[in-house]
Amino acid sequence: MAGIGETTGNKGEKIIIVEDSPTQAEQLKHILERRSYGVSIARDGKAALAVMEAERPALIISDIVMPKMDGYELCRRIKSHLEWCNIPIILLTSLSDPQDVIKGLECGADNFITKPFDEDELVSRIGYLLANRYEKGECAAQPDLKIAFAGQEYAITAGRRQILDLLLSTYETAIRKNNELIRARDELNGMNDQLEERVRERTAKLSRTMELLRAETAERVRTAEELCNKDRIMMQQGRQAAMGEMIGNIAHQWRQPLNTLGLHIQKLELFYELGSFSKELLTDTVGESMLLIDHMSQTIDDFRDFFRPEKEKTNFNVNEVIRKTMTLVEDSLKSQMISVDIETEDDAQVNGYPNEYSQVIVNILMNARDAFYERKIDDGRIAIKTFADDGKAVVTITDNAGGIPGEIIEKIFDPYFSTKGPDKGTGIGLNMAKNIIETNMNGRLTARNTGDGAEFKIETERFPAS
Ligand SMILES: Nc1ncnc2c1ncn2[C@@H]1O[C@H](COP(=O)(O)OP(=O)(O)O)[C@@H](O)[C@H]1O
Ligand SMILES: [Mg+2]
Repeated sequence: MAGIGETTGNKGEKIIIVEDSPTQAEQLKHILERRSYGVSIARDGKAALAVMEAERPALIISDIVMPKMDGYELCRRIKSHLEWCNIPIILLTSLSDPQDVIKGLECGADNFITKPFDEDELVSRIGYLLANRYEKGECAAQPDLKIAFAGQEYAITAGRRQILDLLLSTYETAIRKNNELIRARDELNGMNDQLEERVRERTAKLSRTMELLRAETAERVRTAEELCNKDRIMMQQGRQAAMGEMIGNIAHQWRQPLNTLGLHIQKLELFYELGSFSKELLTDTVGESMLLIDHMSQTIDDFRDFFRPEKEKTNFNVNEVIRKTMTLVEDSLKSQMISVDIETEDDAQVNGYPNEYSQVIVNILMNARDAFYERKIDDGRIAIKTFADDGKAVVTITDNAGGIPGEIIEKIFDPYFSTKGPDKGTGIGLNMAKNIIETNMNGRLTARNTGDGAEFKIETERFPAS
């Protein structure tokens, strides 16, 4: 394989790598072989010496901490060997302790390379050492130079140039490390700036989002309040309309007993004038009148019950509610010659609000009455049927008033939808009825046209009749 070594002219020069870690040794070998050096590997100092007996290398790269003989000792042995002392030795070190440098000087090492090593640096150091080889005589041991460091004394025998080279290589490494640190610090600073910028951006974005959310929440609360108000107003209007309707019904309920009461009073006057007034007549008439008055006062109680608000759900009998409701409205229907036919096939109990349920029936009956009146139908008939269907208590109320026009049938349950004049309709009745059955009692209220009229169907969950 063509390598950089070829261009630097080091082809075939022999290097021994002394390294106990096979992976690191192989890595180094690979780098050096790519540059065309001949490489041998020794696992420790002893093995290295054995290799050197066989073949003299141009340079040695040695790890320091190794089992049998460490790097310093190997270095010392080689440097004290007359034949070998001019072979340059590079020590691989972590240089974490100043003593490493002194020990290096002491054992006569030529150069340091720090682990993890920089490939270009390693190659340039090797190049330098090979190009500036010592002559054999040049490396002969010098008189001891004694150095005291950290309470210990070291004897340095290396030549001046060698010392200088080693120190310079150490210095170079220190500078390189320092530059790396500066670069890392600058990178960190840059990253920090970027992070801060991102945090600033995100914070700004978040507070914008918060602002939007706050505005949206305020808007929603306002809308909810408006809706609530609207609902309340509608409920009130619905109640008022129903009361107005009921006052009309009371008037009808009272008309007949009131007439009879009037007749009773006139009768007393007439009999007195005819001279046939008697204690017995007075007692009978007062008794009959009191019955009528009781009846009228009962009617008022019934109507008052009808509007009594219900807080809790109760079980009630559908047929019974229908019967009670009829006593409230039958006179009003009769006055318009409307006949009501009731067919109770099922005697179901349901759970919910009996007065509200009754109001639903009143609303439907009054709508039928209005339809008969508007369309001038004089044989108005209403059929009320109760039956069970698939676990539901069903009530249908059917009239023969001609039905609901197709184009409005989808809208009749909408709030304020009415085809009647402003003084006759509010458009709240069916909407209220739907709310009562579907929202409050979990049932269904629907309308369709059948035969010659409209049919309203109330379905609620049925409990077995008791
Ligand atoms: N039995 C019916 N026959 C024909 N149309 C009906 C009948 N019941 C309701 N409607 C239509 O549904 C509309 C809405 O009824 P409702 O909500 O009770 O309001 P209102 O009675 O005040 O008009 C009525 O205006 C009418 O057009
Ligand atoms: Mg109505």
